[in-house]
Amino acid sequence: MAEKISVIGPGTMGTGIVQSFLQAGFDVVLIGSSEDSLKNGIRRLSASIGKAVEKGSMTEDQKNSMMLNLKQSTNYGDISGSSIVIEAVPELYDIKTQVLSKAEEYAGNAIIATNTSSIPITKLAEKMKRKEMFLGMHFFNPVPVMKPIELIVTEYTAAETRKKASDIAIKAGKVPIEVKDYPGFVANSVLMPMINEAALLLQKGVASKEGIDQIIKLGLHHPMGPLELADFIGIDVCVDIMDSIYKETEDEKFKPVDILCSMKNENKLGKKTGEGFYKY
Ligand code: 3HC
Repeated sequence: MAEKISVIGPGTMGTGIVQSFLQAGFDVVLIGSSEDSLKNGIRRLSASIGKAVEKGSMTEDQKNSMMLNLKQSTNYGDISGSSIVIEAVPELYDIKTQVLSKAEEYAGNAIIATNTSSIPITKLAEKMKRKEMFLGMHFFNPVPVMKPIELIVTEYTAAETRKKASDIAIKAGKVPIEVKDYPGFVANSVLMPMINEAALLLQKGVASKEGIDQIIKLGLHHPMGPLELADFIGIDVCVDIMDSIYKETEDEKFKPVDILCSMKNENKLGKKTGEGFYKY
């Protein structure tokens, strides 16, 4: 029997994590809060796997046999027997702590990880009974394609938990990189000031949006410019991450600039709403 893992939360990140583990041959349980949320999650997952088939990195037969290893459920009891339970619910502290406590009740010997881009892992750990078996796993979007995982360890995380998480990440074809619990960890600590600065340059009229993105793409060899990337991540997500890091650090470089805040208020959230810096 294949190794079993569970993912809680059928959103973009959750379904991306599910796909990565299915592709690596794991049995996967996906837990949703309702049948409807699961239905939307499965639609997202099918579309993404369909894209992989279209791109030629998987055959239709491989897709079909892989889907047989997925169980979707609203019952937390189904996570028992997993090596790891990965929580990927919305970035709200109260929701995350509720879900993590519930996961702990059923997880047995599984280690528990939270996928978050900005909530301090130690603050979440403090609400848990088995702090030593808990850590952060920050996946990157789109999860099936992006290799790294920031493994965020707290002062409570046991060495055995760190090793288990790292081994599982490697088995899923990822590259785990351990970091300390620090506001924004490494990725968003570097990325968010870059997006904020690019937005400020646009706000000041220093260059056009296309110009800013082109300079970074061609000059720094990034696959996407910062404004295009902000649209891809979601302007609301970027602003929320910046707000959260700003609250922790009081460092002005994380304070979202006016243009980002206005875009969030006007629901110009990027690709998902059809308009951000660019139109889609
Ligand atoms: N499932 C599985 N595999 C897929 C896939 C899918 N849905 N879609 C594409 N692939 C595979 C393709 O088959 C291809 O595999 P191959 O190399 O073996 O042929 C590979 O992925 C790359 O696909 P493409 O060549 O079609 O990819 P593109 O040229 O369109 O590039 C991209 C896509 C890699 C996502 C590129 O646009 C990119 O690098 N974008 C930037 C992404 C980024 O920076 N993400 C980080 C965001 S920040 C974050 O997540 C942190 C958060 O906290 C904010």
